[in-house]
Amino acid sequence: MLPKEIEQTIEAATRRYPQRRGACIEALQIVQRHHSWVSDDDLKELARLLQMTTDELDGVATFYNLIFRKPVGTHVILLCNSISCWIMGYERLREQVTARLGIAFGETSADGRFTLLPNVCLGACDHAPAMMVDEDLYGDVSPATLDPILHQYGCAGTPGKGDGERTTADHEHQAR
Ligand code: FES
Repeated sequence: MLPKEIEQTIEAATRRYPQRRGACIEALQIVQRHHSWVSDDDLKELARLLQMTTDELDGVATFYNLIFRKPVGTHVILLCNSISCWIMGYERLREQVTARLGIAFGETSADGRFTLLPNVCLGACDHAPAMMVDEDLYGDVSPATLDPILHQYGCAGTPGKGDGERTTADHEHQAR
């Protein structure tokens, strides 16, 4: 059951569209902000409010990869795997992040603190490789800057497999 204030916020959103269903993405985001993900029960409740079928709304929810249909950790890390980031060190960054957190893409750490997801271009190609933690965008992420970033969110991970030696390219990139 959605809290009354959430229902009212969604109700207000529906008034901005000619049809109630026009507010579906906004409504999914509102629920996700409140619950951190969209459960089956939330989806049914939302579909009723938006006068959609549950299947229709689920189709929208699963189309957008930033609507979470499974529980996620306290912090969601999105690692860009598009072309600029790929060229500028995505693979090394992925190895380092997965080693620090002890999880693969699509997984949540055992302490429930982090969920790691791949993502298409984050719009920071000129600062590749890039990643987001929750709403915070980080560019020019290097082996040296990754740990301080993760520590801000409570990662106590220690350097592990996948760190490797820094290359000249890394040093050059860091200096940009
Ligand atoms: S390709 Fe990674 S931010 Fe654009």
